[in-house]
Amino acid sequence: HTLLTSSTSLAGKRLVVTAGGTREPIDPVRFIGNRSSGKMGIAIAEAAAAAGAQVTLITGQVSVALPTSPRVHNLKVETTEELLQAVQTSFSAADILVMAAAVADYRPQQTADQKVKKTAGHDNWQLDLTETPDVLKTVARSKRPGQLVVGFAAETQQLLANAQRKLAVKGADMIVANSVAGAQGAFGSDDDQVTILQAGHQPEQWPLMKKTAVAARLVATLAQKMESGD
Ligand code: CTP
Ligand code: CA
Repeated sequence: HTLLTSSTSLAGKRLVVTAGGTREPIDPVRFIGNRSSGKMGIAIAEAAAAAGAQVTLITGQVSVALPTSPRVHNLKVETTEELLQAVQTSFSAADILVMAAAVADYRPQQTADQKVKKTAGHDNWQLDLTETPDVLKTVARSKRPGQLVVGFAAETQQLLANAQRKLAVKGADMIVANSVAGAQGAFGSDDDQVTILQAGHQPEQWPLMKKTAVAARLVATLAQKMESGD
């Protein structure tokens, strides 16, 4: 029997967590995607459920198993547009949104109904892309008092400056910044080194930890934030 202090519990809270990568179809067999494994978002969903929350976990493409906790409701999406719809629908009844998904930034302007065939003499294929909706920014705009919105920032350079800008531009309460460059790159790894950014707070650099440990600490931080109303 474990006793949780109220400040680390999410009992009775509702979370929406997104994880994995969205995919944008080019034709029935091809897509634009990314290297997200979904590990971080899934770990957050599991940690939140363990802390007593009711979790809606919305996943794109993931390469690991989904949570089996009865407190986690799993929803699958493919495209960014589907992700936006699912997040908007579930966020209205939620206390916290955590956008750990790696969202495709661009999609093909047109999706072909049939497989695009190679054509003799055409050794060059130009694909026109158009920007996808920014799910985090869109949903943060509809935030009610008391709701918390947490984003991630994946950067290969100028981590703090870029992440700080995302905190402001996206209207998030918190940004979890992580480097996706080099050997410590987060994609597919079990470990992550993150820096937590919040408006009016100094950046807080956490040590390199297992993603499951980052998730547990993030959940505890969110529980405290909910309680203090800060
Ligand atoms: N995000 C989103 N919708 C998008 C793109 C990103 O909701 N269309 C969210 C991600 O889930 C993440 C945060 O925004 O929580 C930052 O994502 P990131 O890819 O780091 O930043 P972008 O704003 O997409 O900018 P860029 O990729 O150019 O760095
Ligand atoms: Ca992006």
